[in-house]
Amino acid sequence: MSLKNEIPILTIDGPSGVGKGTIAKIIAQKTKWNLLDSGAIYRIFAFLIDSNNINIKDLPALEKIAKNINIKFVAKKNSDLVDIYLDNNDISSAIRNEKIGILASKIAVIPEIRKYLLIIQKNFIKEPGLVADGRDMGTTVFPNAKFKIFLTATETIRANRRLKQLQKQNIKSIISDVLKGIKERDERDYSRKHSPLKQAQDALIVDTTDLTINEVVAKVMKIIEF
Ligand code: C5P
Repeated sequence: MSLKNEIPILTIDGPSGVGKGTIAKIIAQKTKWNLLDSGAIYRIFAFLIDSNNINIKDLPALEKIAKNINIKFVAKKNSDLVDIYLDNNDISSAIRNEKIGILASKIAVIPEIRKYLLIIQKNFIKEPGLVADGRDMGTTVFPNAKFKIFLTATETIRANRRLKQLQKQNIKSIISDVLKGIKERDERDYSRKHSPLKQAQDALIVDTTDLTINEVVAKVMKIIEF
């Protein structure tokens, strides 16, 4: 068995706004494991396509971008956010808006893009462990992960959580738009042909609707025996 197979991985999948990123960041801090926010990778890709005016059908151009992406996640102190660096530039606020989120979910249906981004995501496996959050972490990217969790919550709760998060980043939004965006993305993420949002067969479902962040974290820490 290669060393990479022995590194513990916790996958946290679930729909938009369920709190995956917040929980993943806290768990990564507590365990000192590495963090992979896979949604940010799709968002960065969407951002690059948008800002360079690239046609999403231009596969050679997309592959070139994917091969040169250099991403780093840095946990922010006293906040549930993570700073996202592209080539040493902080692009966190440029990618955390609903426009880029929706574009990310549109490009995420393209199988070639998923293939390019798969390699980037697998490179995040490093000692002493990895916490990976997204939509297909437990099913496609890390099917052999030791620990798998699937978070759920009602649409209304998720829209409210996302709204609060956007407000913290001073991004102006209204609840009806956020709810509409969440529904639209859920629909696309659940129904796409390649690597749809799905609970891995061996994942544990945690319904977070009536749970606080600390309660979810406690459950997850118990699951990974920390
Ligand atoms: O998690 P976040 O909202 O940042 O993800 C943005 C979009 O990227 C999602 O709506 C989804 O379409 C796509 N995505 C994906 N697979 C992942 C993570 C994100 O398709 N593992």
